Amino acid sequence: MTSTIELLARRVPGYALEQAFYADQDVFQTDLETIYYREWLFAIAACELEKPGSYVTYKVGAFNVILVRGSDNQICAFHNTCRHRGSVICKAHKGHAPKLVCPYHQWTYELDGSLLWARDMGADFDPTQHGLKPVHCRELAGLVYICLADQAPDFDVFADVARPYLAAHDLANAKVVHESSIIEKGNWKLVWENNRECYHCGGNHPALCRTFPDDPAVTGIEAGETPAALQAHFERCEAVGLPSQFHLSDDGQYRLARMPLKEGAESYTLDGKSAVRRWLGRSPFADAGSLLKFHYPTTWNHFLADHSIVFRVTPISPTETEVTTKWLVHKDAVEGVDYDLKRLTEVWDATNDEDRQVVEDNQQGINSPAYVPGPYSPIQETGVLQFVDWYCATLAARLSPDVMAAE
Ligand code: FES
Ligand SMILES: [Fe+2]
Repeated sequence: MTSTIELLARRVPGYALEQAFYADQDVFQTDLETIYYREWLFAIAACELEKPGSYVTYKVGAFNVILVRGSDNQICAFHNTCRHRGSVICKAHKGHAPKLVCPYHQWTYELDGSLLWARDMGADFDPTQHGLKPVHCRELAGLVYICLADQAPDFDVFADVARPYLAAHDLANAKVVHESSIIEKGNWKLVWENNRECYHCGGNHPALCRTFPDDPAVTGIEAGETPAALQAHFERCEAVGLPSQFHLSDDGQYRLARMPLKEGAESYTLDGKSAVRRWLGRSPFADAGSLLKFHYPTTWNHFLADHSIVFRVTPISPTETEVTTKWLVHKDAVEGVDYDLKRLTEVWDATNDEDRQVVEDNQQGINSPAYVPGPYSPIQETGVLQFVDWYCATLAARLSPDVMAAE
């Protein structure tokens, strides 16, 4: 069998990847171990945990994580595995609990993970040695990231770049008013490749295309000079305190840029007008466009003048990926008064389903023995190439014999 290192070595730059990258169980396991178990992963919006004791669980590969708001209001993350005989502690996807109680023998943990109570464990038992195992957790301007690695990579360089862009959207004062979670029958990299181009938009997204420009200067990555109209948009927004300039990290893992929507469009609605009357964030005008943020491997986002949308990508199997989408509005916005839920969500609900379809069709075609990787468009698919380059470089660096020998 061809190893992942050999597959990487024979990759043809500028072309889609071989079938094994999208369908093989060993490559999938390598993806989990070298990327998802090592990188910072966007998990939830902080506003989802409303008060001390609010928790959500998040499964990534073999891991199951509890994110909980503590009595000090800080969000912490723990492995959802009891320190007695290992039972899952929080079985629900979300909930509220004053203490975390294991359902098996009722070992009881404080919200900070320390073991509070365990019945009949004998005189020698030391509860301080049996607290929940922590998971690295950081909150950034209302977005919560976790890292499953023992040693987490640096978070601060990204956080310092992203914070001013995000701060303008005031996510601390948001609430989630709609959430969708779909399982796409496609490899997680196909979900990303599809997200990173709009070559497919005209043929597949009639609702989104009313407001979102399928212009490679907006959807792709910066190549050469920024077009004058785009630069003028950045400067107009920055003049009113909305950081907007295109920023791609040196290693290509994340990108921030406030991109204009189509002429006159304000939000992702069918008529292009704002979806929410009470805005989330401090944009002084409606047509500020969308702050587009992607951060491999788990998230892309749209932050608009009136509301924000966050997406999370979680691999389930070689050919299944969960895509979770959450719509955030100002916490004081009232449904039926400040916004209509259908109007707020219908464009991206439709777009997600259309994307699911093209990703599943893509996977189906790749599953055929007749599949041969084809070339990416140098005009339309620079973003796809950028993602695949990041993926291959990350994998290659971590699978190289030197690195493996050192670990
Ligand atoms: S496994 Fe949790 S209390 Fe026994
Ligand atoms: Fe799409």
